[in-house]
Amino acid sequence: ADPDPLQDFCIADLSTTSTPINGFPCKPASNVTASDFIYNGLAVEGNTTNPFGSNVTPANVLAFPGLNTLGISMNRVDLAPGGLNPPHHHPRASELDIVLKGEVLIGFISSGNVYFSNVLREGQIFVIPKGMIHFQMNVGKEKGLLITTFNSQLPGAVVAPLALFAANPAVPNKVLTKALQVDESVVQLIKSKFAASS
Ligand code: GLV
Ligand code: MN
Repeated sequence: ADPDPLQDFCIADLSTTSTPINGFPCKPASNVTASDFIYNGLAVEGNTTNPFGSNVTPANVLAFPGLNTLGISMNRVDLAPGGLNPPHHHPRASELDIVLKGEVLIGFISSGNVYFSNVLREGQIFVIPKGMIHFQMNVGKEKGLLITTFNSQLPGAVVAPLALFAANPAVPNKVLTKALQVDESVVQLIKSKFAASS
């Protein structure tokens, strides 16, 4: 989904912020070495000791500058038993997931509000079409592990509960009570759950 590159590679120079461009400028080719094409961050298990019981470790262009202009990226998703990577969508990418460990309920909801889901096991893959709200939940008794891949160097993630209830500045309660057809106390309660993570 990202535009095609105009050169072999363009290792992102993340330190150059003065000139806004679509992506990042390239570090000088004479300084590029093999290590610019390697990233070790996904070798490390994520900490799932949090209310969702999940952890997403990104290997996007910000973590791995070698991806700049290449239109691809990857995440590692660790799920404790019962853990949930909460409903979210990526504004800039389709997502292709492979389950490496565990039994993982993966679902997305189309723009027609049709819910598509499956329980996946080791080696199975699942595609989330661009922009669709989706989640992964570990429905097994062991730890779950997935690798998720994207056709964007920076797919972005809008996490539905956080967008609605932990935005900064906050979405007004009158909007949320009307949208969800509930009393203000319900909105306050949910906002209080996410106060620490906002
Ligand atoms: C999972 O849905 C992810 O975005 O990594
Ligand atoms: Mn996702």
